[in-house]
Parts: sequence; C-alpha cells; structure tokens
Amino acid sequence: MDYKKITANRIKEVVELDLETIEKLLEVPPKPEMGDYAFPCFQLSKVMRKAPNMIAEELKEKINKEGFEKIENFGPYLNFFMDKANFSKDIISKILIEKEEYGKSEFGNGKTMCVEYSSPNIAKPFHVGHLFTTAIGNALYRMLGSQGYDTVGINHLGDWGTQFGKLISAYKRWGNEEALEKEPIKELLRIYVKFHDEAEKDSSLEDEGRMYFKRLEDGDEEATALWNRFKDVSLKEFNMIYDRLGVKFDSFAGEGFYNDKMNAVVEEIRSKGILTESNGAQVVMLDEYNMPPCIVLKSDGASIYATRDLTAAKYRKDKYNFEKCIYVVGKDQKLHFKQVFKTLELMGNEWAKDCYHISFGLVRFADKKLSTRKGNVILLEELLNEAVIKTLETINEKNPNLENKEKVAEKIGIGAIVFNYLRNTREKDIVFDWKEILSFDGETGPYVQYTYARGNSLLNKAGEVDCEPDYTKLTTKEEFELVKALEGFNKAIVSGIDKLEPCVVTRYVIDVAKAFNKFYNSHPVINVEDEGLKKARLNMIKATCQVIKNALYLIGLETVDKM
Ligand code: ARG
Repeated sequence: MDYKKITANRIKEVVELDLETIEKLLEVPPKPEMGDYAFPCFQLSKVMRKAPNMIAEELKEKINKEGFEKIENFGPYLNFFMDKANFSKDIISKILIEKEEYGKSEFGNGKTMCVEYSSPNIAKPFHVGHLFTTAIGNALYRMLGSQGYDTVGINHLGDWGTQFGKLISAYKRWGNEEALEKEPIKELLRIYVKFHDEAEKDSSLEDEGRMYFKRLEDGDEEATALWNRFKDVSLKEFNMIYDRLGVKFDSFAGEGFYNDKMNAVVEEIRSKGILTESNGAQVVMLDEYNMPPCIVLKSDGASIYATRDLTAAKYRKDKYNFEKCIYVVGKDQKLHFKQVFKTLELMGNEWAKDCYHISFGLVRFADKKLSTRKGNVILLEELLNEAVIKTLETINEKNPNLENKEKVAEKIGIGAIVFNYLRNTREKDIVFDWKEILSFDGETGPYVQYTYARGNSLLNKAGEVDCEPDYTKLTTKEEFELVKALEGFNKAIVSGIDKLEPCVVTRYVIDVAKAFNKFYNSHPVINVEDEGLKKARLNMIKATCQVIKNALYLIGLETVDKM
C-alpha cells in the first residue's frame, strides 16, 4: 500500500486538482513531528483567491480523516499523520509474506533492456576501472530485472583490432605455451610488450602484425585458432573474477563477433549517402553537430572501434528489440558514444534515442603504495585479495572463533569494495581509502552487512516467541521511522532505475541500516516483558533483515549470518 497515493486520493476528494498534480505537490515534512506528508496550499490560493493558511484550515475541517492518526493544518500546510499501528502491520506483514519478492514489481513486463557492462580487453589485465563498469552494470541489470524487465547482460569484449594481429605475430615468435596455460594474461602481456620493444628496432614487425590481422579478418584458420585461444584463456581468467563478484552475462558477443556483420552496415551507411571520404578514410561528417567525424573505415579499409559499435547496436536492436540499450562505459568515451548514436540516428534508426551511455568517474588511491606502482594499472585481483586479507585481520581481532572465517571475509571484503564503487553518483571520482571502506562504522558495506548479522543474531537469540504480534505497540519514533524506511524500498529501486543510478539503492540500504541501529540502540528487544510487543519487534527485525538482504543483492552484495 502506498501511503502517498492514499493521501493524494484523500486530498483529491476536497480540492479541484488532478491526482498527478497533488502527488507532485505533496512534500515530506522536515521533521517527523510534523507528520508524514504535507500538502502546501499556495497553488490553490491563486484559484480560490484566499490566503493559503485559511485554505489549509478549511481543508482540515472538510477532509475525511479515517485511517489516519490525525490530519492537521500548520500555517499554509495540511499535514498528514499516518495511523502508525496499521501502517506497521501492513508493511511488516507484507515483507514477511513476500520475502525475497519484496520490492519487486511487474512494471517492466514485456519490455527488454540491454545492459552492456564490464567489456574488458582480451589479453589485457582486468584493472580497477573495470570493476566500476562491472559493478554499476550488474546492479542496473539486477534492479531492472527486479521490476519485471527482460534483461540482457552483454559483455562487449574488446577482442578485435590490429593489436590482435600483433599478438599473433608475437606469439609465433616468442610465445611460451606453458606460461600461457598458467598465467595467460601475464604471458600475453609479456609478448605484447616485447613486440612493441622489438618493433621499435625493426619496423617490418608492424607490417607483419597488420598482415596477421588481415588474415584474421579473412578467417584464416591458423590466425583464427590462435585468436580463439587468446580469447579462451583470457576469459578463463576474467571468469574467475566474475565468479568472485557473482556477476553474470547473457551474452559475450564481443567486437570480433561483428567481423562478418560490419560490411552490411557500412554499405547501409553508404546507401544513405552520409559516407564521405576524408584523408583516405570513410567517415560520417558530424560538424553540424559540433563533433569530429565518425570514422567508419580507416584509410587501409579496415574497420574500427566505432564500426563495431554501430554494427553491435543494430544487431542488438534486431535480436532483442530493446526498449533501451544501456552502455556502462567510462566518461572518457563520451564523445565516442555521442558520435555513434548520432550516426545511428542519421542512418534513420529512430531507436537511436533509446541508446544511453551511462558513464562513470575515475578511481584514485589514497594509498601511496598502490598509486605509485609502475605502469599505474592496479589489478583488480590484487585489490580484492587485499580487501579479503584485511577483513580477515579484523575478524581475527573482533571475533576470532567465527566459523568459516575465510568465506565470511571473502564476502565482506569484496562486498566492501563493490559497495564503495556504488555509494555515490556514478560520475563522481572515487578516492580509495582502505580504512574508510573496510570500517564497520560509517556508510560502508561492512556496516550494512554487520547490521544484518546483528539483526540475525538477535532473532536467533530470541528463538520462537509463541504469541501474536501486537503492532499497535510499535509506537516509538524510532520504530515508525524504521518501518517507514522499509516501506520505501520499491520507490528507491524505481527511482534508481529512472536515473540509472545504483547509488539510490546503496543510499537506501544505508538509511535502513541507520534506522535499524537507531531503534536498536534505544529500545530493548530480548528483555521485553510484553510478549505481543516483543513479537512485533522481532518481526520488524526479521523484516529489516529481509529488506537489507534484498537491497544488497540488487547492488551485488551477499549477506552473512554471522561476522
Ligand atoms: N573494451 C573497451 C575498453 O576496455 C570498452 C568497451 C565499451 N563498449 C562499447 N560498446 N564500446 O575500453
């Protein structure tokens, strides 16, 4: 039950405004003492030619107060106080019945959303920036799924381009089969770097690299086999990370997948008369839109990053008929996506407007050791391992006898990192500070997970209470604020989807944890004499744990029962 709707409907019975306008006008008062919703009467004042204070007073007399604790006028506002007992009973029962379904809806039924995320480059290390796209994309994927959308998670692997010709050449010259098995990406990186060093001395190597890429494009057997092998071993390594993060994809169609599909798209662009030659390259001019041209074919006739994206977008529209196609990619590629989307539009694809570049900021490290490392790429695996080790240290300090310590540390440590990525709006840069991220206090993953574990242990300690819950006794401010927070779950998800911002859900779950701790720090649970009240409080805690679990799942975190 949505109390805002109920309130708006009540108001509608006494004023001449439509429901939508009323809902827009409704405010949440700055203090809980002022009620749950307030309706400002300024707008009515113009039509009714009366002072807003007077209107508020009149409405207070007229309005049907049934189901509300009270409705009062404060100056130009009409303030609504919900019937707390009824409200708590409704919300808590609903959560306990719906369990992991709580928060979901069927809003998106019948519509497909493509979410492209992660998309690392084959044969290159998976670094900390990749977790940003992976975490945001996974969260959006789960959030959209929770509202009934058909979701397609796409990993647009960077597995095409002249560098793969170079890699083939390098492997044939210096590759070590054993090392490739053992530490694939390290080995591929080694020979790639060597290729560049050698090519500086002998420029014919570059030609050899181009030759191999040409062979790859033409489907040459040997080149294709090597390319597939590089892809397989890289993916094996990436998949280990995805498993640790609990991230899944429905499609791994990367850039190479479009090799045999690009010609048709290039021809289509040509047939629309928008392909022009510029310095030997084939481009779509975009100066009318204040952008440099979108290069479709390089002067040697080879396709380019944008060609693959144009082809991929068309392919996705054909295959999935998406409502929206979301690209979770760093903000340094803003121009690229603007060019691609504009070109799609100029080709006459009216759905180009349904493509969204969801960008994000940079990751920086407060820790000098990490930021000064040579090459400056920080491997994600190292980061995750470090978080787990540090968490294990904390557990050894705080709770040395905990069962399955390693498993718990894995969930808390990795969760802490993911949480930190999703805590603020996407485009804000992240400054990585271990102390803060792993702390059990403050707005962190461990804090929320600890709150869950605390609730869970309370429930275990209390055992079964054989009595009907008496929700009319949940009358304190802290209880009401907590239940109100629990009620807001679906609204948070929907708002996060509207903005394509997972942080709305992250902030939401922080608020729930805070509200719970406020309650817990000021009211007893186990030592309550009144069984009806005790049971009501226990049910409220159970509901809180459920909501925390559901919300954390949406942003890619798992809960632990004890920590
Ligand atoms: N592989 C690219 C990179 O690591 C990201 C791909 C982004 N997606 C796309 N459709 N262009 O920088």
